[in-house]
Amino acid sequence: MSDTQLPQVVLGVGGGIAAYKVCELLRRLTESDHRVRVVPTADALRFVGEPTWAALSGQPVVTDVWDGVHEVPHVRIGQSADLVLVAPATANILAKAAAGLADDLLTNTLLTARCPVIFAPAMHTEMWEHPATQNNVATLRSRGALVLDPAVGRLTGVDTGRGRLPEPESLLEVARSVLRRGATSTDLAGRRVVISAGGTREAIDPVRFIGNHSSGRQGYALARTAAARGAEVTLVAANVSLPEPAGVRIIPVVSTEELSEVMATERVGADAVVMAAAVADFRPVSDAESKIKKTEGPPTPIALAENPDILLELVRTRAQRAPEQIIVGFAAETDNVVANGQAKLERKGCDLLVVNQVGQGRAFGTKDNQASILSPDRPVVEFSHGPKENLADQVWDLVQERLAESDEQDMGLDSSR
Ligand code: C5P
Repeated sequence: MSDTQLPQVVLGVGGGIAAYKVCELLRRLTESDHRVRVVPTADALRFVGEPTWAALSGQPVVTDVWDGVHEVPHVRIGQSADLVLVAPATANILAKAAAGLADDLLTNTLLTARCPVIFAPAMHTEMWEHPATQNNVATLRSRGALVLDPAVGRLTGVDTGRGRLPEPESLLEVARSVLRRGATSTDLAGRRVVISAGGTREAIDPVRFIGNHSSGRQGYALARTAAARGAEVTLVAANVSLPEPAGVRIIPVVSTEELSEVMATERVGADAVVMAAAVADFRPVSDAESKIKKTEGPPTPIALAENPDILLELVRTRAQRAPEQIIVGFAAETDNVVANGQAKLERKGCDLLVVNQVGQGRAFGTKDNQASILSPDRPVVEFSHGPKENLADQVWDLVQERLAESDEQDMGLDSSR
C-alpha cells in the first residue's frame, strides 16, 4: 500500500499529564500503517514538546491556525481525516467541542471533520463526574462522537479513581475497530450490553481447581467492538489475563456461582446479554480448606454437584426481569457442529447461538475464529473464518438488527394508541 492510501488519523492531544502515554499510542499507530497528524493544544506542549510529536509522526506539528495559512490548515486537516482521536480529552476540550468553539487548530479540526471522532477523556474523578462535564459528554455522544469512559486506577499524585487514560494498546484497538467500520460506527450508542468472558474455576482445595482452556479473547473482542460502537459495556471476566479494553467496566469473577450472581444483577436494564464465557457444568461438592494430600492406596474421588445453567436461567427469567432483552449464547462443539448447535439453541431458548468448532488448536486461545450463528427464526449466518473482532462485529450486527426491530414495534404500538 502506498503511503497516501494509509488511513489518515488526526491525533488531537489535550493538555493533561496523560499526554506522555499518547507518545506510545502515536508510535503504535504509525507502526501499524496509519498516517498520523498530531494536533496538540498549546497546553499539551507544556507536557510533551513539539519535537517529540514531529519526530514520532514524521509530520509538521502546529497548535494554532496562523501557521501555513496559505494551506488553510484549519479546514484541510479535518476534511482529509479518516478518523480524529482526541487523547487525552481534557474537561476543557470536551466543553469546547460540545459548545462548538473554534479558538485553536484542534477545535477547528473538530468542526470541519466529517469522519468518526473518538474522545478518550482523562482527568481527575471530580472533574469527570461534574454535571458540566457529564452534560458535555452526553451532547457529544448525541452527535455521534464516541466518548470512551475513562479507566479506573492511579491518577496524578496519590489519587485513585475513575479518570485514567486507557492504555495505548487498548486505544489503538478502538481506533482500528472504528476505522474498520467507518461512518456507521456508533450504532450501539444508548444501548447497554453485558458480556461474560473467560472460563470459570471451581475450587477443589486452596491450590487446585476444575477449569477450562478459554482465554477470554472472544468475549473481550465482543466488549471492545461494542464499546467502539458506542455501547455502555459491562464485561464480567472469569479468570482472564488480557489487557483491559478501553471504555469498558470490568467485573472480575472466579466461579460459576459468582458469575451467576453477577449476571443476574447486571442483566437488569441491559439491552443485550452475551454469554461468551466457558462455564463449568459441575463443581466439587466440598471445597477443602487445606490442600488435599496424596495418600497411600486408591485416590479419593471428587464428588461433583451440578452448577446453575446461567444462560438457561437468563432466558427463563427474561419475561419478568427484562422482557425486550436480546440474549446470545455461545457453544463450543468438537463434532456435528450445526446439528448439535440447533439442539442446544432449542434447549437454551436464546435469540442467537454462536457455535464454533473447538479442539485441534481451533478457537481456544487463538486470534481467529470460525462460527455458525443460529437463531430460532432466521437462516444460519456463517462466519467462515477471520479475526475474533470480525465475528464480534457480526454478532453485534445481528443484535442491533433485532434491537432496531423491537424499537420499531414499540413505535408502531405507540402510534396505534
Ligand atoms: O451447555 P453448554 O455449556 O454447551 O452451553 C454453552 C452456553 O451456555 C454458553 O453461552 C455458556 O456461557 C452457557 N452456560 C451457562 N451456564 C452453564 C453452562 C454453560 O450459562 N452452567
